Formats: sequence, C-alpha cells, structure tokens
Amino acid sequence: MRAVRIISEPAEIPSTGQGSRGLVPTMGYLHEGHQELIRRAAAENDEVVVSVFVNPLQFGPGEDYQTYPRDLERDARMAAEAGASWIYHPSPETMYPAGFATTVRVGGPLTERWEGERRPGHFDGVATVVTKLFNQLRPRRAYFGEKDYQQLQVVRRFTADLDLGVEIVPVPVVREPDGLARSSRNVYLTPEERPRATVLYRALLAIREAARGGAAPAKALAAGEAVLATVPEFVPDYLAVVHPETLEPITDWVPGARAIVAGRFPTVRLIDNMEVWDR
Ligand code: PAF
Repeated sequence: MRAVRIISEPAEIPSTGQGSRGLVPTMGYLHEGHQELIRRAAAENDEVVVSVFVNPLQFGPGEDYQTYPRDLERDARMAAEAGASWIYHPSPETMYPAGFATTVRVGGPLTERWEGERRPGHFDGVATVVTKLFNQLRPRRAYFGEKDYQQLQVVRRFTADLDLGVEIVPVPVVREPDGLARSSRNVYLTPEERPRATVLYRALLAIREAARGGAAPAKALAAGEAVLATVPEFVPDYLAVVHPETLEPITDWVPGARAIVAGRFPTVRLIDNMEVWDR
C-alpha cells in the first residue's frame, strides 16, 4: 500500500469542486480508531483528508505536547490503508504565525465541567484549531470519535453557533479486544499498567449493567465506583452519569444517558465513556 500525498501549506490545498470532502481531524499517531473514522468518511464522501497536527493550543503547562507520539510516515501508510485521499500536515508556524491573536471559545456549562475543569483552556484550543481546519479545508462532513465525548459536543456547539456549515459525524468508540478504548496515549502505559487499564471500561460496563437491572443513576454510579476502587494505582478525576447533550449530571435516566470517566495511572491520563441507557 502506497502512502498518501502530504500537503503542508494552505495554498496547496486542492479545491473540492463539485465533490464532497470528508475531514478526519487528528493529532497523528494513528490507530484503529482513526482508521474507523477514515473508512466511514471514505464511504460517505468523494475524497477524505486526514489532518495530522499536534495542536499546541490545546495542551496545558506540564502536559505532553513535546513528547506526544509522532510518526508521519506510519500515519501516511495507515491513512492510505483506510482509504484517505491525502494528509494535511501544517506546521505550528503555519497555523499560528507571529501575531496570531484569536481564540474560539465555547462558554457555558458544557465546557465548565469534566475535561474543561481539569484542563483549563483545552477546549478553546480545540475549538480554535478545528475552526481553522474547517475554514482551510472546507469539508462537507467532519468525523469525530465518541471516545472524546465532551469534545464532540463542544465541536457540535461551535459548528452550529458559528454557522460553519459542516456536518459533524460521530463515530462510536473503537476498543482493544479487552475493552480498553483505543488512544494514541495508550503507548505510555507500562506492561504492568496495560491490563489494569481496562478498569475504566469495566466500571462503565458495571454502570450499564446496574442500569439495565433497574438501578437508579446514583446506585448505578456506586457500582462503577466499586470497580474503580479495585485498581488503586488508578486515581479517578471523575466518574459520572450525565445527559448525553448537556453533560449535566442526572438523577433520573434519560434516553442516551452516558457514563463518563477520567483519571490517571502513574504514566498517563485516560478517559472513556459509554451510553448506559438506550435512546
Ligand atoms: O481529538 C483530537 O485528536 C484533537 O483534539 C483534534 C480534534 C484533532 C483537534 O486538535
């Protein structure tokens, strides 16, 4: 399989003409989850562009911007294998030249809780770069994994609020055979931590099982907390049962209710989520 063409300058971006362009925005170090987004985009569009850009704006102080895994050649091969037409790989200087001074910011409760609270400025960085990618690449559709569930809701919000005219397509979480959600950051896990990292998935499953067995949200949540407690080296940031659009905690089940979890192993911070009440 030949790797795809890599374009680095906005001036070289081909026009879409009459065809539809699907965009899969990524920070690279592609995995099976990204390939699923690309396959879906390839099935629904005339061409698929995969953006590979480790966006400095969405990393906080002390986070892993410098060490974030990068391998463009491997990304180009994996993107081609999944059906991408080309890769967009701008430099940080191209995206944020000297004098750059604009931020796209989603306000309100959607960004105040969960990842927004733990990672101040993170969603501003995501909203700013995704808006720029939409403006540069002019996709008809853009594909986002449900793994970053709050990000997906934030992207939906500013795309609608700013009339960006891009259809946002959510794609379900892709998991390893043992249930761990695929993530570029899974490479940070040590061999000892790796099997224990399924604790997030197992906690979410416990909540879903409890819900299906008739438990109210608070009781179902307690079942998830009990699972998390079995792996003491995992320090939870939050485990919650929330409304699928507002991400507000719920006390009664609503269609599509989601359980969300995040926390830290000594080497890496992980997040995951699951629909626990059917739509
Ligand atoms: O989900 C990601 O990989 C990033 O947040 C995104 C959407 C590519 C923006 O940098």
